[in-house]
Amino acid sequence: MERTANFNGMILYQIYPRSFKDSNGDGVGDLNGVTSKLDYLKDTLGINTVWLSPFYKSPMADFGYDVSDYCAVDPIFGTLDDFKRLLQQAHQRNLRVMIDFVLNHTSIEHPWFKESRQDKTNPKRDWYIWRDAKPDGSPPNNWRSSFGGSAWTFDEATRQYYLHSFLAQQPDLNWDNPAVRAAMKAVLKFWLDLGVDGFRLDSPAAISKDPDLRDNPPNPKYKPGTNDQFSEPLLLEYNENGPHLFEYLEELAEFIKENHGRHMVLEAYPDDAKSPTRYYDKFYHAVDPVVSAPFNFEMIDKPWQATAYQKTIDSFEHDMHPDYSTVYGFGNHDRSRIATRLGRPAARTLAMLALTLPGVPIIYNGDELAMVNGKISKAQLRDPFAINTPGFPGRDPERTPLAWNNGKNGGFTTGQPWLPLNQDFATCNVASQLKDENSSLNLYRELLKLRHKSKALAIGTYKSIDTHNCDVYGYERKFENETLTVLLNFSDKPQPVENVSSDKIVLSTQQAKHTGKLTLKPHEGVIIKN
Ligand code: BGC
Ligand code: MG
Repeated sequence: MERTANFNGMILYQIYPRSFKDSNGDGVGDLNGVTSKLDYLKDTLGINTVWLSPFYKSPMADFGYDVSDYCAVDPIFGTLDDFKRLLQQAHQRNLRVMIDFVLNHTSIEHPWFKESRQDKTNPKRDWYIWRDAKPDGSPPNNWRSSFGGSAWTFDEATRQYYLHSFLAQQPDLNWDNPAVRAAMKAVLKFWLDLGVDGFRLDSPAAISKDPDLRDNPPNPKYKPGTNDQFSEPLLLEYNENGPHLFEYLEELAEFIKENHGRHMVLEAYPDDAKSPTRYYDKFYHAVDPVVSAPFNFEMIDKPWQATAYQKTIDSFEHDMHPDYSTVYGFGNHDRSRIATRLGRPAARTLAMLALTLPGVPIIYNGDELAMVNGKISKAQLRDPFAINTPGFPGRDPERTPLAWNNGKNGGFTTGQPWLPLNQDFATCNVASQLKDENSSLNLYRELLKLRHKSKALAIGTYKSIDTHNCDVYGYERKFENETLTVLLNFSDKPQPVENVSSDKIVLSTQQAKHTGKLTLKPHEGVIIKN
């Protein structure tokens, strides 16, 4: 099946600004830090679009995912002028800039919420979700916050509970109120007018809830005491993916469509584990796919197995309409580092997969260096999710600062870094990896170079192939008379591949030399030109 749509060749790179590059020595990455690294992103690495995690004014209870002013830059990250300069310098280099849109909730410090909590008759009362306690004083229903505990907090002043899908400092907006939707579109307009190229929507599924706020049913698969951040005691049946979700998202998509060439990518974890494809398909179907696409996170914690990956991707590619842009997400600021989850050798195989599939590839900052999870002591914990959930390591390990060289603090900051650098930063840094032909960074660079040169990789069709070896996943990408075959050895043993000659290998993840019949090295991925 043809799979050609990819938002005009977009290759995304997610920047977690706190940890990317600090320009002023306060130990926290900032916008000027990002601007100073645009040449790295465009010329050295070879991506063409960045997505910046939140840099808006925020009390930082959830490190910026609790916004107190959607149209201002938090001083820790710089100023609005710094952002304008970043944007202008990026555009000068033909780099597009997408920004995070935290639409489900604000901070409790947002003026809207401050007004809303004043009294029950305040005009902004209905901008959030307030309910009376049950007769026994307990919360209105059994919904839980994603970060642990009840999703409701009692507010003494007006003696009602307010709803928060995340921290108590992140009250949910009431998207059923048209005034909220209008205000949020005004936020989009502010940034579109400045020239941003699109948005990543944060937790969009939560903006529509069951109108009756019914109790969530118990999760029969829940294992108490598990450390898994996504093992929930309740099924998330009524608190998200409500009846108006697509209507509200389509409203945003239409709005963005008016601004030609802009896009939105939606954070989406399937509500239907049995048929994730059906869930994604609903998204594409309901929200204009010309401007919008959900991330596909099906592989983000799938066991590393050739047949499992092949089956998942085949079924997704097969069911998707050619005009839908796929965005396979393999890592982000909320999930374990790829190199920790799979090990560094397999992370190289995954790099080849991620950068040769159809659609919009995405790299989370630091994954190009094969960064592993940082080791964070209890005293160094910063993530409120971890602090609230004893035993859960939280998301700090995947948020440690990038190292740019092997000097003090890896060149990330001249001050005290907000999270410690990884122990191996002396070798796992940009400058050292640039000098090492075999480095992860150079593999990413080679793969991206190839993607830029090859229409087959950028916009070609996808066809899975039978490799007669259950440890080797293979597929063909084809455009006009250019065909590339990708073969990925998911195992740590050598694997023969029948009927394939090694003469035309254009790239090997191991820089291995092959002659004659092909036997892939452990974890090796190759691209063959037919
Ligand atoms: C973001 C998280 C954030 C949460 C609440 C998400 O899914 O990716 O980092 O904590 O939304 O905004
Ligand atoms: Mg700083």
